[in-house]
Amino acid sequence: MTTNTLFTPLRLGAIALPNRIIMAPLTRMRAGAENVPTALNAAYYAQRASAGLIISEGTAISPQAHGYPSAPGIYTAEQIVGWRAVTDAVHARGGRIVMQIAHNGRNSHSSLLPDGALPVAPSAIPPSLPALTKTFQQVPSEMPRSLETSEISGIVATFRQAALNAIDAGFDGVELQGANSHLIEQFLEDGTNKRTDHYGGSKENRARFLWEIVEAVSTAIGSDRLGVRLSPFGQYGGIHDNSPQALFTFIIKELNQRRLAYLHLIEARGSEIGLTDELHEDALNNAALFRPVFDGPLLSAAAYSPASAAQAIEQQHADAIAFGRLFITNPDLVERIKADQPLNQFDRSTFYGGGEHGYTDYKTVEEVA
Ligand SMILES: Cc1cc2nc3c(=O)[nH]c(=O)nc-3n(C[C@H](O)[C@H](O)[C@H](O)COP(=O)(O)O)c2cc1C
Repeated sequence: MTTNTLFTPLRLGAIALPNRIIMAPLTRMRAGAENVPTALNAAYYAQRASAGLIISEGTAISPQAHGYPSAPGIYTAEQIVGWRAVTDAVHARGGRIVMQIAHNGRNSHSSLLPDGALPVAPSAIPPSLPALTKTFQQVPSEMPRSLETSEISGIVATFRQAALNAIDAGFDGVELQGANSHLIEQFLEDGTNKRTDHYGGSKENRARFLWEIVEAVSTAIGSDRLGVRLSPFGQYGGIHDNSPQALFTFIIKELNQRRLAYLHLIEARGSEIGLTDELHEDALNNAALFRPVFDGPLLSAAAYSPASAAQAIEQQHADAIAFGRLFITNPDLVERIKADQPLNQFDRSTFYGGGEHGYTDYKTVEEVA
């Protein structure tokens, strides 16, 4: 089958894309001191500027929001300057880039947080995965601290400020990290949210945190520059819900009213964070399942090949496809797909941390020739 359908233009709210090949958000843990992006980070993103859209790595909205060592933030003047060099480099090569703004919640470690504070969460329930310390050591996860009701509006306000900072740094929009067991999803799902205030209990209450953030960010930068990422049926870090289909149908129907730039769904068939190549062949197809309740642009991610990506668009399950690991190893993924050239395979050992190796030293087809 051909991949022509990937090369048709698409509009995501205020952002016009020349193709439907999206670079998925990829945490690479290579930011500089004080979580400031560097010239190396700018070079990496610029190499991938032919993507229809680049979605940045998950970026911490506040010091409390960090979950990984050497991951960037968007809450200091220095970080805004560092990101400005990234967006300038991408735009200079004709690209488009949005920032994924994130709060890791319980998926963190006290060594990454101000004054060695414990990670925060809707409820004091630890994740099932180990944590990574500031010095990249894997250690058992800590018991998170349950947020006070009075703290929640402050976190909503930091999401709003982070979105404004991202626009100030030259981003074309922002994506809310509502997927992969981060704080927003920890609120949404009943396995991680046992609260008894109006942010817990019914699905309407558990979604309140998300609605408040969507509202605050939309008012600040426009809903046509806001995307939301979700991972229905995902299980990363032990996240779970008793009625996931009802929960996500409700959430996506509600998001449909909010005129977003796009909805971005991770397929449970693949691995949420690309940790394994294992496929869950019995998983429901999220894009196909939720397409009927969302009228706006829908992005789908996880375990796609160029051919299956084109097929998903032809079947009208999705409008664009995000590639994660293939963009790590193929800076010219768009050109390679177009010319039907072989794709480089990934090397997990260089995914996280380190310098140029496994980051900016993957060659384009042109450079190899
Ligand atoms: C190294 C690595 C880092 C990732 N970091 C993020 C992230 O910051 N935010 C996010 O939403 N997903 C993240 N993901 C998940 C990817 O965006 C994507 O959904 C996943 O890799 C599946 O797509 P793929 O099969 O095309 O790789 C990461 C995945 C990998 C491999």
